[in-house]
Amino acid sequence: MTELSTPSVNPSPLEPKNAPSGSPTGSRRHALALCAAAVVIVALGACGFAVAYPQYMPDSIGEIVEDMTGANAHPVTLQRPAAAPLSAVAMLGKEIFFDTSLSASGKQSCATCHSPAHAYGPPNDLAVQLGGEHMTLQGYRPPPSLMYLYRQPNFSIGPDSAENDDNPANLAQLASQAAGTQRAQKTAGAAPAAAEMVPQGGLFWDGRVDTLQQQASGPMLNPVEMANKDDGEVLRKLQNARYAKTMMQLFGPNIFKDQRLAVAEAMFAVARYQVEDPSFHPYTSKYDYWLEGKARLSRAELRGLHLFNDPDKANCAGCHLSKPSRDGLPPMFTDFQYEALGVPRNTALTQNHDPHFFDMGICGPFRTDLKDQTQYCGMFLTPTLRNSATRHAFFHNGIYNNLDDVMAFYNARNTDPARFYPRGADGKPEKYNDIPPAYRANVDVKDAPFDRKFGEQPAMTDQDMRDIVAFLHTLTDGYGQQH
Ligand code: HEC
Ligand code: HEC
Repeated sequence: MTELSTPSVNPSPLEPKNAPSGSPTGSRRHALALCAAAVVIVALGACGFAVAYPQYMPDSIGEIVEDMTGANAHPVTLQRPAAAPLSAVAMLGKEIFFDTSLSASGKQSCATCHSPAHAYGPPNDLAVQLGGEHMTLQGYRPPPSLMYLYRQPNFSIGPDSAENDDNPANLAQLASQAAGTQRAQKTAGAAPAAAEMVPQGGLFWDGRVDTLQQQASGPMLNPVEMANKDDGEVLRKLQNARYAKTMMQLFGPNIFKDQRLAVAEAMFAVARYQVEDPSFHPYTSKYDYWLEGKARLSRAELRGLHLFNDPDKANCAGCHLSKPSRDGLPPMFTDFQYEALGVPRNTALTQNHDPHFFDMGICGPFRTDLKDQTQYCGMFLTPTLRNSATRHAFFHNGIYNNLDDVMAFYNARNTDPARFYPRGADGKPEKYNDIPPAYRANVDVKDAPFDRKFGEQPAMTDQDMRDIVAFLHTLTDGYGQQH
């Protein structure tokens, strides 16, 4: 064996160690070094301050610091609803919300489809939930999250303005005023030249009811949900429930003598539960804390936020509003308005086996009052994106079960439609195939990211989409609990 000689480490010649001290050059150098050190210390101090308190920095510096650290340069104080113990009516509502004995199958309560562990949305990745007497019938649409509905305005048709919360009396009349305009959609972000009449507010994907109380009797009687035959059947179940006594205490001993009143009071109680219980509106997402300057976003999350807000790129905030109101109300990530996005038909839904069936949102068939207002056909409520990262069924027909597919659709619907739509008789992809051909002009092609044309560069890169999804994850409540 040959011994390998280890090369001896040869220390590199150092600069002459001792510069002649005491010489004039030496002391000047010394002073300069001190000066430089002082400058560095002050600069570091300033940086440190800027990083710790970006809100006290001028805008431009604040934004640089925001980019460097992920801290919010302009924190605000969010107005959260005051916490108070549940009223007796809301506590009754809670029992009703979780009571499976109220369904025909005996297996389903409100919480089955609106699971508290899943942001009061569906607990599984089915496009729609099963219900009915034997829990075998498919629903028509995915259950929305029940969170934050206390901020949902009533349904109305009015000028495209966030301030407008009047509830006009005659919807059909208002709608017909708008019928002349070719498309009634709003233009996200930009102010329209003349006020367009846009539908806004309301509950359900088509806004067909206004109040939580009105809403709650729907699922009780819906044949594909809790499937009771009539109010009489609901009444009998309420009378046999363990909280029947509580109902008599709260609403009077005669409550069960009037079946409509009894059901209405029970539904009122469920509504109070949703309004009062803080778990329906906690505002505990990472983004909420970031808005308040209490959390930092990662680089990807912050980049995602900027793209989300950029009117020329993703433009998500054009419809899913991301900024707190002037008086500190946390953003709802919806403008409460309706849009036709033209999502692909979901052939997995039983109702869609009939080629003549179309779920057209505002113009029917599940709501009937605006069926002649065809300028609204295909329009659905813009949902909140709070907690959407916990969902596994997206859009009104549950066509996608993950956010990456949602992003791909937003990005390439028009630039590469063959990715999303089946080919029609003419061999071309049949765009917007879940809307009857006569109403496909209602689909939004004006707002970014939908304004790109066939074959053009899409609005977002793959990295952009990943970052936006990272941002969407910051909208999930309970951030404080995991950290
Ligand atoms: C079988 C599943 C199922 C059950 C059980 C169920 N829901 Fe729903 N819920 C849905 C679906 C689906 C929708 C959306 C329907 C639509 O848009 O047409 C919905 C919508 C709602 C909405 C409107 C949400 C929004 O964002 O507009 C509320 C409120 C609601 N349900 C409350 C309840 C209450 C209270 C109960 C119990 C009394 C209940 N649900 C039982 C499936 C269910
Ligand atoms: C022009 C208004 C508009 C713009 C811009 C917009 N959205 Fe939407 N968004 C909607 C509407 C309307 C729906 C419901 C459509 C439907 O179900 O048919 C929706 C649905 C969604 C859903 C499904 C939520 C659920 O609970 O099913 C997600 C996620 C979403 N949008 C994210 C985004 C992102 C991310 C962007 C930016 C890339 C964006 N949106 C841009 C209006 C808009």
